Amino acid sequence: MNNSTHPVLRSGLLLGLIALLGTALLAGVNELTHERIAEQEKRRILQQLNAILPVASYNNNLLEDVIEITDEASFHHPAPVTVYRARKDDQPVAVLMAVTAPDGYNGAIRLLAGFDHSGSVLGVRVVAHRETPGLGDPIEVEKSDWILSFMNKSLLDPQAEGWAVKRDGGQFDQFTGATISPRAVVKAVHNALVYFDANRQSLFDTSATNPERDNG
Ligand SMILES: Cc1cc2nc3c(=O)[nH]c(=O)nc-3n(C[C@H](O)[C@H](O)[C@H](O)COP(=O)(O)O)c2cc1C
Repeated sequence: MNNSTHPVLRSGLLLGLIALLGTALLAGVNELTHERIAEQEKRRILQQLNAILPVASYNNNLLEDVIEITDEASFHHPAPVTVYRARKDDQPVAVLMAVTAPDGYNGAIRLLAGFDHSGSVLGVRVVAHRETPGLGDPIEVEKSDWILSFMNKSLLDPQAEGWAVKRDGGQFDQFTGATISPRAVVKAVHNALVYFDANRQSLFDTSATNPERDNG
């Protein structure tokens, strides 16, 4: 080991260096991919929010003006509800609540429900569900316009007993041979609206608790 390092040691060092470079490269790619996925997820959520709430109606950053509420008694599920607050020139405009209907036919149905500041429904969309194709899936806006029947409803129109499917004496259609899915959605939207109505002020006043959402 005078003029040159021992060949075995040299190979070992080279391999070590290659492994180090490989690890560094992988970590870099992983970081970039993670950031890109987080960006895409943010864009996807914003698209969903803007399908209910027109972009022109607010000028704050919806994705940063967020709070999380856990209230099992009100929402009938233990998971936190994400609330996006929309404001124009700092004045409250609307909230979009990511609620879950726990009692779909095949489990939980995830919804986004938008309420304007006066308590009217701006719109509702199903964002994830496992209801049966052809039976329960008309809750999706892509499959039928049933979900649009929530628009402009409020706690006074209809009154509490109207917030049910027709089979249960309410105002909302059920589907042929499938009452469970629409019943679950109506109940979840109504629960969210009742919560919004009772907590309107604090929902807008509470400081954002989750400004940078970690989607990883
Ligand atoms: C295989 C299978 C899948 C079903 N999927 C759904 C569903 O996704 N949503 C739903 O509301 N009902 C579904 N049903 C029907 C329910 O079991 C139930 O009968 C129905 O919701 C009650 O509606 P009705 O009051 O109109 O009879 C399904 C039934 C079967 C046999």
